[in-house]
Amino acid sequence: MYRIAALTPERIPAWHEVVATTAAHDLPGEPLPTLEQVRAQLTTAGLNSRRAGWLALAPGGDAAGVAALRLFDAEGQSHLCELEVHVRPERRREGAGSLLLEAAVSTAGDEGRRSMIGVAADPGPGTEFCAARGFDRVLTFSNLLLDVAFADLDVATPEGYEAVMWQGTVPGELAEAFAVAKNAMNDMPTGEMDYGVQRWDADRVRTMAEVLADRGDTLMTVAARRGEELAGFTEIVIRAGETRRALQYDTVVAPEHRGHGLGLWLKAEMVGWLRAEHPGIAEVETDNADDNAHMLAVNNKLGFRLHRRSSEFQLSLRS
Ligand SMILES: CC(C)(COP(=O)(O)OP(=O)(O)OC[C@H]1O[C@@H](n2cnc3c(N)ncnc32)[C@H](O)[C@@H]1OP(=O)(O)O)[C@@H](O)C(=O)NCCC(=O)NCCS
Repeated sequence: MYRIAALTPERIPAWHEVVATTAAHDLPGEPLPTLEQVRAQLTTAGLNSRRAGWLALAPGGDAAGVAALRLFDAEGQSHLCELEVHVRPERRREGAGSLLLEAAVSTAGDEGRRSMIGVAADPGPGTEFCAARGFDRVLTFSNLLLDVAFADLDVATPEGYEAVMWQGTVPGELAEAFAVAKNAMNDMPTGEMDYGVQRWDADRVRTMAEVLADRGDTLMTVAARRGEELAGFTEIVIRAGETRRALQYDTVVAPEHRGHGLGLWLKAEMVGWLRAEHPGIAEVETDNADDNAHMLAVNNKLGFRLHRRSSEFQLSLRS
């Protein structure tokens, strides 16, 4: 009934329309992605990653569903790809999702990938679809929201540390130390996920900031400095055109600096800065894996509250 067409620049508005329609249906009240955000995401090269995309077209040519596959190319993650699929609510259970998955699996095979991951609201149709199509649930997590106005920022600076903050690319003199701190992120609990390892150096952290800037996103970072070292950091992104919600990116404290309250303090500093710099931003969204109890305690203390539940699914592509 449906035929698969490759995503081309001319088809991006149709692609966006499906994503916005399904998001409005599945996640009522959530900010909807704008056409500009989707276009930037689909056409701007990621950090060591590329995207392939497809549409499932009905006989009249209307798009019933869409899929994008992100292919990671960095050393340590070249086995991995990440899928998103969205099918219009009134077109579900007609095989469009399965056709889109087939296209993605075929490309993943051509690219020599071992694992395909994807996130779905849990419970929800995505969870049922993943279970029916052979994915394993490898990580469960909560999506948390912080009301910026009510965050508890009364957190003392841990002794011996100083906050440094920057918007966009890391200042040159901090780039090496920041890359070292970024590598500590590889400790993050990823459940049963075959996620691989991301290696950071000064060039790669600069490139990441450039990728976000090319998309028009605002990247804010607060780090804890002790001497020459950055003991930890937290990052927030405000996507281009976003007026209400900021997204939490990485937060990490290097193993030898854990246990001094740096995580809570860094995040509180960030929210204070956000209030001052971007007063329109009313909320911050973060994901918290269920097996990351320390991060959950920090988030709860700051005032984050449960918003919804999701899971990460994984399909093994080679037997
Ligand atoms: C998940 C989604 C893409 C499925 O699209 P779809 O076109 O309905 O999928 P298919 O028709 O190919 O379904 C294939 C099988 O998955 C299972 N399935 C899909 N949706 C289901 C549901 N709501 N309840 C139970 N089983 C379901 C069924 O086994 C189905 O086969 P069947 O209809 O013959 O019983 C669609 O529901 C969607 O867009 N959801 C929101 C976004 C999302 O969660 N995406 C997945 C994240 S990667």
